[in-house]
Amino acid sequence: MLKTMRIIRSAQKLDLNYVPSRILCRDREIKRLRIAIESGGRAIICGETGTGKTMLAKYFARDAAYINCFINRTEHAILETILGILKPRFNPAGLSSRRLWEEIPQDSFIILDEIEGISVDDLPHFLYTLSRRAETGKRVKYIAITRDADILKQMVGDAAVWSTFAGKSIIHLERYGKEEMVEILSYRASEALYDGSISEDVISLIADIALRSEGHMRTGIELLRNSAMIAESEGRDHIEPEDVREANMDVWLDEMEIMDEEHLIMLLAVSLCCKERAYATIDDIKSTYIRVCENYGSEPGDIDKLLRKLEMHGFVMKVDGTYTIPFPTGKIIQKIEKSIEKSGELNSFIS
Ligand SMILES: Nc1ncnc2c1ncn2[C@@H]1O[C@H](COP(=O)(O)OP(=O)(O)O)[C@@H](O)[C@H]1O
Ligand SMILES: [Mg+2]
Repeated sequence: MLKTMRIIRSAQKLDLNYVPSRILCRDREIKRLRIAIESGGRAIICGETGTGKTMLAKYFARDAAYINCFINRTEHAILETILGILKPRFNPAGLSSRRLWEEIPQDSFIILDEIEGISVDDLPHFLYTLSRRAETGKRVKYIAITRDADILKQMVGDAAVWSTFAGKSIIHLERYGKEEMVEILSYRASEALYDGSISEDVISLIADIALRSEGHMRTGIELLRNSAMIAESEGRDHIEPEDVREANMDVWLDEMEIMDEEHLIMLLAVSLCCKERAYATIDDIKSTYIRVCENYGSEPGDIDKLLRKLEMHGFVMKVDGTYTIPFPTGKIIQKIEKSIEKSGELNSFIS
């Protein structure tokens, strides 16, 4: 009988826009957000990409109107979009921004994501009007989201406007540490995947790659989803380290083209060690490296130095004294073996 292999229980729960029912590691920030909104009706959330800003705002203000300011870049476009959500039957055609402001209901709650996306011409006036609403008696509550509050402050350019807009309600989301990332990924995996389909080692590998990436937790969630899909498409019932590396394969091929043979051989040794597992010890790597050098008749180099260089270029990751590779080792091995063979042929031809 054919066994049906299943890993993904709910793909939708690994969608980047999905708001999970629990948010881990942000208790303090949620509390501060609550205080800011209850006392002043406004909050600014800032932090680097993938620190959970959008998720936190949507989780906290489930019923708020959500606007992305990189998509709606002018004051007028933003107001139109807000009204489209709050008053779907209202027709804003041909009306001035000033008129649109008047239409926004008292005590509306809005989320302004990526607020630095508003055009510089409109930004100060928009933020000024927004924060002055309180004084006209038509208050609008808001959560504004930005990557960097200092840069936004400079863009606003006016200290008085800035202080009315932001007050003392800036909540900064730090990047997650390894333990936090593992905790969050385990929780997200338990929500979206079947029990037993992902090991602690594989979650740890995803976390290590995500921690070193630009996308931070966003990369973590993407790797979790894509590696699960790759494993499923191969008919397996669990995710392997190679699936994660496959999911992470982006620029490595181009960069390998310019690597010299010394480093290629070192990378080959580490790849061979990691083929069947997530992490490899230095002893393992050393003995494999010596073997590989003998195979190709090349003189062994300074192992630590070679590893450091590979690490610097992102081909090798050092984690708690062990080593791993963030890309598909099978493909790396194939490619290196081919390219060394070629140069070997060339050498013997010359001599
Ligand atoms: N504390 C957390 N708990 C659960 N999931 C999280 C947490 N932090 C981030 N995520 C997930 O990581 C991804 C990136 O978060 P996002 O809110 O888009 O980041 P940002 O807006 O700061 O770039 C989303 O899929 C989000 O659900
Ligand atoms: Mg975001």
